[in-house]
Amino acid sequence: MLAVLGSLAAALWAGLHLRTLLLGAFVFLFFVDFLKRRRPKNYPPGPPNLPFFGNFFQLDFQQPQQAFQRLVNKYGNIFSMEIGPFHCVIVTGLPLIKEVLSNPDHGVVNRPIIPLQERVFKKNGLVMSNGQEWKEQRRFALMTLKNFGLGKKSLEERIQEEAHYLVEAIQEEEGQPFDTHFKINNAVSNIICSITFGERFEYGDAQFQELLRLLDEILHLQAGVSCHFYNIIPSIMNFLPGSHQTVIKNWDKLKLFVSRVIDDHKKDWNPDEPRDFIDAYLTEMTKYTDNTNSSFHEENLVCSTLDLFLAGTETTSTTLRWALLYMALNPEIQEKVQAEIDKVLGQSQQPSMANRDQMPYTNAVIHEVQRMGNIVPMNLPREVAFDTTVAGYYLPKGTTIITNLTALHRDPKEWATPDTFNPEHFLENGQFKKREAFLPFSIGKRVCLGEQLARVELFIFFTSLLQKFTFKPPASEKLSLDFRLGIIFSPVSHRICAVPRV
Ligand code: HEM
Ligand SMILES: *[C@@H]1O[C@H](CO)[C@@H](O)[C@H](O)[C@H]1NC(C)=O
Ligand SMILES: *[C@@H]1O[C@H](CO)[C@@H](O)[C@H](O)[C@H]1NC(C)=O
Repeated sequence: MLAVLGSLAAALWAGLHLRTLLLGAFVFLFFVDFLKRRRPKNYPPGPPNLPFFGNFFQLDFQQPQQAFQRLVNKYGNIFSMEIGPFHCVIVTGLPLIKEVLSNPDHGVVNRPIIPLQERVFKKNGLVMSNGQEWKEQRRFALMTLKNFGLGKKSLEERIQEEAHYLVEAIQEEEGQPFDTHFKINNAVSNIICSITFGERFEYGDAQFQELLRLLDEILHLQAGVSCHFYNIIPSIMNFLPGSHQTVIKNWDKLKLFVSRVIDDHKKDWNPDEPRDFIDAYLTEMTKYTDNTNSSFHEENLVCSTLDLFLAGTETTSTTLRWALLYMALNPEIQEKVQAEIDKVLGQSQQPSMANRDQMPYTNAVIHEVQRMGNIVPMNLPREVAFDTTVAGYYLPKGTTIITNLTALHRDPKEWATPDTFNPEHFLENGQFKKREAFLPFSIGKRVCLGEQLARVELFIFFTSLLQKFTFKPPASEKLSLDFRLGIIFSPVSHRICAVPRV
């Protein structure tokens, strides 16, 4: 690993030598950076850092967990690190994480501006925007999601219908081993697509599969070294080859796709009958035509739509794939879920949210999948909006806050068997029990905007699949719980058998 970093650094230096002028600038930056990097009084403790690169070389991209654990052991539940231009504070442990994320007094409500994100989204959209703009976009998106859920064809019905298609598509595999990624991703994405674009895509649609592939590639590559370098020295990395260029290219393709869909919508748009998120947004834009200061403009439409598509696809789909994997690896748990399904629904009744209260075991299993799957291990980064004090430490405006959700989901003080799949974590006397140390959607003002939607999707898709199939490891392949590094932690590529139950 160090060799890779070393050679990258060497390549960078070589590039700089060719441009002596730049070298001078670099030295100057070193100096400015040194002044900037002095830690304010009462700032959380942390490892000593190099000028310009900060603690970059202390990041271990192969085994980040172990490397960080050493720092937690040394510095405690709140410590600082300099990662490129970011002054990061890493927070661990239950009372502190909740306090930081949800106490409005601390103002941990912004997102840091990450160069790669900025290159694509400027400051638009839902996930990476800040201030008034974020407030307006978030409020509108929440309201619109709700409106389309309460419309004629409720969201729940759409999900039930899609679950039905998914079951049919999996039936075609006839119990033979297959990679779940492609069909589940498509089915889940169809839900957010029908809300935003007003249409779902057939599982065989080649163009849509290509979009999903671009998305998957982005999430994977964005956690890589080359993108990290881009975020530290964007102006130089812009001219160098590497996977950051692929990421940028993929983003541009996705944006182009969304722009085309928007153009199509404009052709037959009827303000009185909004069909989907895009239609509703076009209507909202007309309210502000005389006010150039509004955040409802076309660029934001593209970015917010893309954000919903991105955040609404891989997250739920990855969680479902973990669920099937855990079922295949824990047949006795799978049997109990199926027994509950048979008791409450039988084989013919479609699952709906109204059944969830009668199905505490199934509900507990889904929660346990989210705890163990832990797909957003470090949460999304936040940024402090104004100077504040947390746990006695001073955090100036602009400090990046990283909350360690893994530590919460695997805390031996909170969970009876932290590293083992065990639905009993969410059960008490046969009833479902909420747990405070369970925060896969985060908490506070920036909490996942799609939490409600995701919960409905997870329950209906998971229950529908287990109603119709028993998931088993292929006879000659071993299933693994290893994860693929990325912005979202997903299972490594694998195949599974879906044996029809009747
Ligand atoms: C199992 C599924 C999901 C998980 C585990 C998940 C998790 C998360 C997490 C951890 C955050 C960061 C919150 C924070 O900064 O405190 C987030 C943000 C977000 N999620 Fe989800 N999410 C899921 C599904 C969805 C779905 C289906 C949508 C689609 C509507 C969605 C849309 C968003 C958006 C737009 C944000 C940004 C919110 C903001 O910055 O204000 N998510 N999600
Ligand atoms: C987060 O917590 C896990 C589990 O305690 C630990 O292994 C990991 O090193 C921690 N990461 C950071 C960045 O603190
Ligand atoms: C509009 O202008 C006001 C005053 O200049 C400013 O406070 C606000 O943030 C702006 N809104 C947007 C969405 O940019």
